[in-house]
Amino acid sequence: MRTQVAIIGGGPSGLLLGQLLHRQGIDNIVLERKTRDYVLGRIRAGILETGLVDLMRKAGVSERMDRESFVHDGTVITDGNTHFEINFKELTGDHVIVYGQTELTRDLYDAREECGAQTVFNTENVQIHDADSDAPYVTYEVDGEQHRIDCDYVAGCDGFHGVSRKTIPEDVRNEYEKVYPFGWLGILSETPPVHDELIYANSERGFALCSMRNENLSRYYIQCSLTDSPEDWSDDAFWEELKRRIPAEMADKLVTGPTIEKSIAPLRSFVTEPMRWGRLFLCGDAAHIVPPTGAKGLNTAASDIHYLFEGLSAFYANGDASGLDTYSEKALSRIWKAERFSWWMTNILHRFPDQTDFDIKMQRADLDFLRSNRDAQKVMAQNYIGLPY
Ligand code: APR
Ligand code: PHB
Repeated sequence: MRTQVAIIGGGPSGLLLGQLLHRQGIDNIVLERKTRDYVLGRIRAGILETGLVDLMRKAGVSERMDRESFVHDGTVITDGNTHFEINFKELTGDHVIVYGQTELTRDLYDAREECGAQTVFNTENVQIHDADSDAPYVTYEVDGEQHRIDCDYVAGCDGFHGVSRKTIPEDVRNEYEKVYPFGWLGILSETPPVHDELIYANSERGFALCSMRNENLSRYYIQCSLTDSPEDWSDDAFWEELKRRIPAEMADKLVTGPTIEKSIAPLRSFVTEPMRWGRLFLCGDAAHIVPPTGAKGLNTAASDIHYLFEGLSAFYANGDASGLDTYSEKALSRIWKAERFSWWMTNILHRFPDQTDFDIKMQRADLDFLRSNRDAQKVMAQNYIGLPY
């Protein structure tokens, strides 16, 4: 079998790249380790920057998103029992939209099936060969049968635990990592959101986040210990703790109910450099991870996909490889800014086990400056709505 671009990974990164390439007439195959249903069973964040929205429109996969998503012009930050708003619209003229990543991925799968582009599910033992040559190829197994795909390029969109990053020799790779000493316990409940915008809460008991998927599906998180498991938290215990971490006036309005999903995610900052090795390009979680504070995960994957799509399009259109040659540098420049922002938001909103009284004073000073200084709010808003591609 032969294709122009072999895409490893059928998550949002791989599917978005595949759809953009298909519409450009560039042949591609997606290899996905799991099944479509398994991929769609993952609960992920739901805040999209307008850059990602524009890419979905360019991919021709925005009809349901435009119909079902909603615009957020700002967000609320709380500090103990007080709160203030960061008004993105007023500060930057832009906004973010709320649309579940699972729904975005579903739309991309539907579009891929509709256009007849090839996706191979349940692939095992995917290996990338000769990526540093002019004739790379990928091998994989399905039901024990070995397959080979010869290609021009390989897009490694296979997430943090994938094979692509590890294909780059260790003496070529530089990895940067920070693991945070806590997790996020997240729940979904078929209840109306407590507020019409997100609430990022700093409290002496730890961080909390009030988010949503639609007017009757809420997503809440509380910072928890890494030794916790979801089973340690009854629904009642979760709701009581959440109420203690947000201002009383908001806690009084909180509509609780049975949770339909409960899980704990660890927090990490991670970047690998370079994001290209020969004819292999890493995109999304395969190359970088951010803590979810600030919702930058998918939005940084989106700018990778933008840069790689532009580079591949120029190459196939007129042999111009400049976009491919500058991909890693351009992608990393934006990624590191998103890493800093996500790290900063995590630091000012969470309680760290080893935090000293001085550290807490520094956190309060950061929050007080953000509350009282328009320029500080503008910097935060510019990062939150997404820096330019
Ligand atoms: N072979 C084939 N597929 C693989 C392999 C492999 N060896 N390893 C992983 N995969 C698949 C996974 O099953 C998954 O469906 O690659 C896909 C990677 O998808 P994601 O992990 O969602 O990464 P990405 O598409 O870059 O999306 C980034 O997802 O994790 C969130 O916060 C992150 O929002 C961000 C988004
Ligand atoms: C979510 O809705 O799941 C969400 C929103 C914002 C974040 C993280 C997660 O920063």
